[in-house]
Amino acid sequence: MYRTTAHGVCWVWAAASLLGHTMPRPPQAALPRQAKHHHHQARRDEGIRWRFPADDNVEGMVARVENGLSQTTTLTLNASSPITHDLMEEALVHLYKKVESLRVCLRPRQGQLWVADMPRRKLDFKSVSGSDLEEQHSAFRYSPFNLHDGPLWKARLMSCPEDTPCPTPEVKAAFPHQCHLLLSVHHAANDGAVVMWMTQLLVNILDSLLQGVPVTSQQVGELRDGVEAKRRKQMRAALQQNPDKLVEALRQHLGSQHLPLLMEAFGLPNVANATTQDLTPVILDNQTMEKFASKCHSLGATTNAAFTALINASLVEVVREAGMHRDVYNISSRHPVDCRRLIKDCESLPLGNHVTPMPQNTATPSDVKQHFWQYVKHLDIELRDKLRRNYMCEDRMLEALMRPRQHTHGEQRASRQLPCWDYTFTNLYSPRTAHHAAGKCVWVTAAANYMSFHNERFAYGVGLFSFRGQPRLQLPFSTSAISREVAQRCLEKILALFHDVSRN
Ligand SMILES: *[C@@H]1O[C@H](CO)[C@@H](O)[C@H](O)[C@H]1NC(C)=O
Ligand SMILES: *[C@@H]1O[C@H](CO)[C@@H](O)[C@H](O)[C@H]1NC(C)=O
Ligand SMILES: *[C@@H]1O[C@H](CO)[C@@H](O)[C@H](O)[C@H]1NC(C)=O
Ligand SMILES: *[C@@H]1O[C@H](CO)[C@@H](O)[C@H](O)[C@H]1NC(C)=O
Ligand SMILES: *[C@@H]1O[C@H](CO)[C@@H](O)[C@H](O)[C@H]1NC(C)=O
Repeated sequence: MYRTTAHGVCWVWAAASLLGHTMPRPPQAALPRQAKHHHHQARRDEGIRWRFPADDNVEGMVARVENGLSQTTTLTLNASSPITHDLMEEALVHLYKKVESLRVCLRPRQGQLWVADMPRRKLDFKSVSGSDLEEQHSAFRYSPFNLHDGPLWKARLMSCPEDTPCPTPEVKAAFPHQCHLLLSVHHAANDGAVVMWMTQLLVNILDSLLQGVPVTSQQVGELRDGVEAKRRKQMRAALQQNPDKLVEALRQHLGSQHLPLLMEAFGLPNVANATTQDLTPVILDNQTMEKFASKCHSLGATTNAAFTALINASLVEVVREAGMHRDVYNISSRHPVDCRRLIKDCESLPLGNHVTPMPQNTATPSDVKQHFWQYVKHLDIELRDKLRRNYMCEDRMLEALMRPRQHTHGEQRASRQLPCWDYTFTNLYSPRTAHHAAGKCVWVTAAANYMSFHNERFAYGVGLFSFRGQPRLQLPFSTSAISREVAQRCLEKILALFHDVSRN
């Protein structure tokens, strides 16, 4: 445990602040102050369609994106005829027209950041030459956005030479024209659920265009502001009535933070400039997944809980093998929760950024592997209970309380802090949604979803996605926390354990 003293001080202040009810509003950085400036600003903003003020979830995300957080996707497409620059542009314009959250920007209005429609629609799309997808992606993932005018997403097309090998060789070569598409979506404007969903929509649009079928301009989804921040205010009011509960809640909140076990076991890497790196995505075997899922089902546990348990148990093995022996390992993790579950009055997909991380802290026994499914059951109950109480809202409320008085999101990010959570687990896998199913004229032959998080406070990430009806596992890591070799060991352990515990 580190920074205990700082926490202690903050903690007292937070409790006092909550009970004494003066919560300073974080001052906005770099907002126009002078009257003249205001005047120009007002003129420039004429005719802007303002949507809603950004809540602190969105504001925080803006600061994190400025500090290097990004979400990108790469798709490899095989088509019956070539996907030209013009064809892709046409498809992207359709996507633009259909999805309103792709048409927003974020600009200040009367001292606060607002979500607004872009003053002019602009597409950030280019074809790039070069043959190395990874190379193109590593430059692309860190390229900045124009927050004030938009667009808050961008795309790049890379065509592939005729003889490029197919990433899914088991599929008979039927669509000989291959290309890569790179997509980057500003996380404050749209979350991973929208990204998954818009890539599927794009592939469908491309398929229609290649078939010569018209694409309608019918809107899909509905831009909504977050309800999580409102929920948080209610929780704060409730806790204000009950100081004992507040103290306990803060204790729990702080208890979840510690130096990641991998950093404790392997030491702190010495890198000048940290980056996020990725291991090659792994497609999980469908049959094993079915066995794993049916074991979960018979226990009444979710596969989400079981995957968390897998990650925990593999982490325990990796640090044990590095010589770190304990009876119990405290593991801290973050679980992004889709807060769309709190939106009751939206019939289509609520667009925007609705994801809030939920921390989870579990004492994991060293012999967890022997009692794996019991452990799953225990974890499942814990996670369910937290979700039921909307613990992600409570945790964010407590985190806001812990911030120093004159805090702005930007300042908090500026000074580098040590990671304090072991990992983050993003689960966007669903066996029911046939993501990237084959179309008539275009197939997705490879896909990957990336997040860069080297200035965030966790050591590594595990992502589970759907790919052609199968689960795809990805493991990104921050070079400021662990080495590639250690990350590789974690991935191998997860895979070995996955097969091990799924055996009859
Ligand atoms: C995809 O395109 C590549 C490059 O032309 C080709 O080698 C491969 O066989 C194609 N795959 C399919 C499934 O059509
Ligand atoms: C690290 O980043 C700084 C600032 O971007 C740059 O000036 C420096 O050359 C980088 N150092 C290395 C070792 O890459
Ligand atoms: C694990 O967490 C428990 C409860 O929060 C704490 O008492 C214990 O000291 C922690 N153990 C380690 C090794 O950090
Ligand atoms: C995995 O570890 C996290 C962090 O300690 C914990 O919250 C969670 O309950 C654990 N999961 C399982 C299935 O044990
Ligand atoms: C894998 O299993 C899922 C459901 O369990 C199914 O929908 C999908 O078609 C299967 N995929 C393959 C490639 O067999």
